[in-house]
Order: sequence, then C-alpha cells, then structure tokens
Amino acid sequence: MELGSIRTKIEQELSSVKDLSSLNQFRIAILGRKGLFSELIERLKSLDKEERRNYGREINELKLWAEEKVEELKTHFEMEEKRRKELASWIDVTMPGAIPIVGRSHPLTQTLEEIVKIFTSLGFSVAEGPDIEYDYYNFEALNIPKDHPARDMQDTFYVRPGVVLRTHTSPVQIRTMESHLPPVKIIAPGAVYRCDNDISHTPMFHQVEGLMVDKHIRFSDLKGILTVFIHEMFGEKTPLRFRPSYFPFTEPSAEVDIGCVICQGSGCRVCKNTGWLEILGSGMVHPQVFRIVGYDPEEITGFAFGMGVERIAMLKFGIDDIRQFYYNDMRFLSQF
Ligand code: DAH
Repeated sequence: MELGSIRTKIEQELSSVKDLSSLNQFRIAILGRKGLFSELIERLKSLDKEERRNYGREINELKLWAEEKVEELKTHFEMEEKRRKELASWIDVTMPGAIPIVGRSHPLTQTLEEIVKIFTSLGFSVAEGPDIEYDYYNFEALNIPKDHPARDMQDTFYVRPGVVLRTHTSPVQIRTMESHLPPVKIIAPGAVYRCDNDISHTPMFHQVEGLMVDKHIRFSDLKGILTVFIHEMFGEKTPLRFRPSYFPFTEPSAEVDIGCVICQGSGCRVCKNTGWLEILGSGMVHPQVFRIVGYDPEEITGFAFGMGVERIAMLKFGIDDIRQFYYNDMRFLSQF
C-alpha cells in the first residue's frame, strides 16, 4: 500500500476524533497490537532485505508521527475536560447571599419588657402567681364576695367550683402580702383570661399588676410613680389625668387616662371623641384587703394598680385590632 495515502487516511480519521473515547478507539485501530501499523510491519516480512529497510524506516517515521498526533490530541481533550469540570463547579463569590429569616421578640414581649424595665428602675421587683387560681385569691381576698355585682365586671372561666382561670393579676397582690411582711414593692406581669372575644378583647391577654405597701404610703406616691411610668412609656409631654373610679379592692380608686395618642386630644374614633384614653386602674389598697392578709390597716397603707399590656402596646404602636397580636402573621410581626 502507498504510505502517502495511509498518511492522508490517518489525517482524515484524526480530524473526526472529537473526544477522549473516540481518540482511544482510533489509537487501538491504528497503533494497537492488532492495529494498522502492526499489520504493516507484519507485511514487511514478505519483502526482501533492501526494500524492508527503506519501507520499514518510512513506516516507523509514520508511526512516530501518528503517536505524536495521538499524544497531542490526548493532552488537548484532557485540558478541555478539566476546564469543563472547573466551569461546572465554579462559584460566583460576588453573588448576594440568601437572607435568612431572623427571629425577633414579639411586640407584646417588647412592651412587657419595657414596662418591667421602668418599674425595676424605680425599685420594684417582679413577682409571679399561677394562671389557674383559687376563687379565694381571684375574688374573695380582693374584697369581692360571692354574689358581689363586681364579679360581673369580668366574665370568668371556671375550671371547677372554687377554681378559675385568673381574670386579672390582682391575686398576686394577695399571695405576695400573705408571704411577705411590709415593705412590699412589686409588679406582677402575666396572662389573664376572660370569656370575651372581639376587636378589642381576646380570651387571653396580659396584665401587669403593681403594689407598693409600707408605712406612710399616700395617694401622692401613687400619682408620682404612675406619672413617671407614663412619661417614660409614652413620652415626657404626654398629658394624663386621674379620674375617680371604683374597684372593690381599693379605696379611693382612680383610673388613669392619657391624652389620645392618635388625635393628640382633639377627638377621634379611638378615644370616642373624648380626647382621652383609659390605660390603667389604680387606688389605695382597701383596709379590708390588709385585714385579710394580716396587715394592720391602722399602721400600713399602700397603693395598687393594674394595666393591660395589649392595650398599651396597641396605643404605643398604633394597632387597631388586638387580635393581630395572636395571628402570628410574619408581615405583622416583622414590623417590630
Ligand atoms: N384588676 C383590675 C382589672 O383587671 C385592674 C386594677 C385596678 C388593678 C385597680 C389594681 C387596682 O391593682 O388597684 O380590671
């Protein structure tokens, strides 16, 4: 066979080799043990000495050339393969990362923490009591006897006769005074329960009770402490007023109003055109309550107050539906 045409044929075949595996097939077919060159060398045997030398040298050169070509292509395909792998695993370090959702404290927790912070800075410590409470602590000891009309002020969940879900945090007053001698200076935050459910009531909500008892505590102390609290909570310039009221466990009693935070006192839907918003109940501890816990009302005086945490949070953040606190809608919660 004409070696020149063999070379052309090899070149043609090489040009159709497109990857490592077809190169390998080519290598076996041409350079392999039973390949083209083996066959050519085999054929040399039938030639005479002179011819064999010339022909053999040419075949060898051609074979070296073919081996070189295969090596070249092999390196080329291997590089290509390497680059392809690199590209596939390439990371764009300048790409912005995914932002993880970060938790934060609930607006009620924030409000409660702020209330607690203000009162602890005024020397109050934090007391607690059970959510499931005896009728005795929730009503009786707070000077609300059975059949007293004041029981209708709160729609009570009864657990069993004599046991209720506490309707307010005031029972913590009684528990604290029962177990401590004066002076007492506590706040009692916690959940309370009433059978009520609408835009401004949920069956469970939160209150903070306050109690300050010692010798010579006067109504002016009540006024002073609550004024400081309201100014810290709602701002120095917030107007407030003490309005006479009634609670069975205090005498005298007062409710505290602040100037409407929505309309600044000019009158709106939220303040029912009065310009004022009620934010807590308070009063001087009733002598009967002192007698029940074994304090001497001739010697000891004190004041108490109670406020709703949801109500304060609603006014502070301008929320008009109390139920928003309990839907756990991230669009609502992530605003705080
Ligand atoms: N316990 C009352 C309520 O839930 C709030 C309250 C009023 C608490 C006057 C007090 C107080 O300690 O002195 O409506």
